[in-house]
Amino acid sequence: MSAEDLIKMDKNMKHSKIAVIGAGTVGSTTAYALLLKNIVAEIILVDIDEARCHGEILDLSDALAFDGASKIRSGSSKDASEADIIVIAAGRAQKPGETRAELLTTNKTIITDIFTAIKPINPQAIVIMVTNPLDALTALAQSLSGLPRNQVFGTGTFLDTLRLRGIIAEKTNVAKSSVHAYVIGEHGDSQCVAWSSAEIAGISIAQFAGIEKKDFESIAQQAKNTAYEIIACKGSTHFGIAACVAAICEAIVFDQKLVMPLSTYIQEYDTVFSMPAILGENGIERILPIPLDDLEQKKLTDSAEQLRQLI
Ligand SMILES: NC(=O)c1ccc[n+]([C@@H]2O[C@H](COP(=O)([O-])OP(=O)(O)OC[C@H]3O[C@@H](n4cnc5c(N)ncnc54)[C@H](O)[C@@H]3O)[C@@H](O)[C@H]2O)c1
Repeated sequence: MSAEDLIKMDKNMKHSKIAVIGAGTVGSTTAYALLLKNIVAEIILVDIDEARCHGEILDLSDALAFDGASKIRSGSSKDASEADIIVIAAGRAQKPGETRAELLTTNKTIITDIFTAIKPINPQAIVIMVTNPLDALTALAQSLSGLPRNQVFGTGTFLDTLRLRGIIAEKTNVAKSSVHAYVIGEHGDSQCVAWSSAEIAGISIAQFAGIEKKDFESIAQQAKNTAYEIIACKGSTHFGIAACVAAICEAIVFDQKLVMPLSTYIQEYDTVFSMPAILGENGIERILPIPLDDLEQKKLTDSAEQLRQLI
């Protein structure tokens, strides 16, 4: 946290209340990541499984024993509707062999129930969607919430992007934070990497020792398949996405204007998917039209078409 953030902290802590709806693996780990960041006054967990939610609260409260000003408690849908930030991580993950359309049928009902329960929502609230299939459910949330679109968005390809940067960093022997590269499009199989604008200090990634153009496809596949690899080994992913959600919340609480690839409605493609966006206290402030070559443009257009069909 920067010195500037520390100065803003006292002011912002008084107002920051984050509700996490869905206290399963992802929701509870997100609450834990938020507690460790120590950036919000209150974290409220909401789940239809009250026993699970109670257990997570007790366990998370133990983590507060050493440090932290945040309070954590379970709450109702009404409590969630009054929060400054509402994270939605309720619903189940894709089962092996299940299509995204099948998962969408189940989770669409859950997300619809949640919005019915939390409306009317605090008009200033920012809603962060995490539940998969992410882009289709973000589109649903944007239409159900009644809030301006810039206040309702999904984690999108933020985690995919961090995985990509991690692989590039290892190959080039440069710190991840100095790698500028984005995964855009669907948070899913049709995502694409904007290689033509990927750079380190203004130098194209392909000109760095350790990476050649012919490696691009395998690196993109490796980044995309990391989630499948984790799920094959341990059943679900939660630490990475929780860290991403906590970073998104921090950017909102401290009005950081960070650029992150987030899922939102993109007029040019008439669908909801990820493009780099500037994130501040009011949500998405601007979507940045990242430069693409013809092949990337085609991949993104195909990704948009697939998503329009799913949605
Ligand atoms: N966006 C990403 O990058 C990303 C990464 C990992 C997981 N996910 C997604 O996050 C979602 C949650 O995953 P998980 O592993 O935590 O699942 P989980 O099964 O552990 O938890 C889901 C929770 O949702 C709760 N729930 C169901 N209906 C509800 C309702 N109407 N109101 C409140 N709570 C309700 C359940 O009781 C359960 O506790 C999945 O869709 C998964 O695919 C997204």
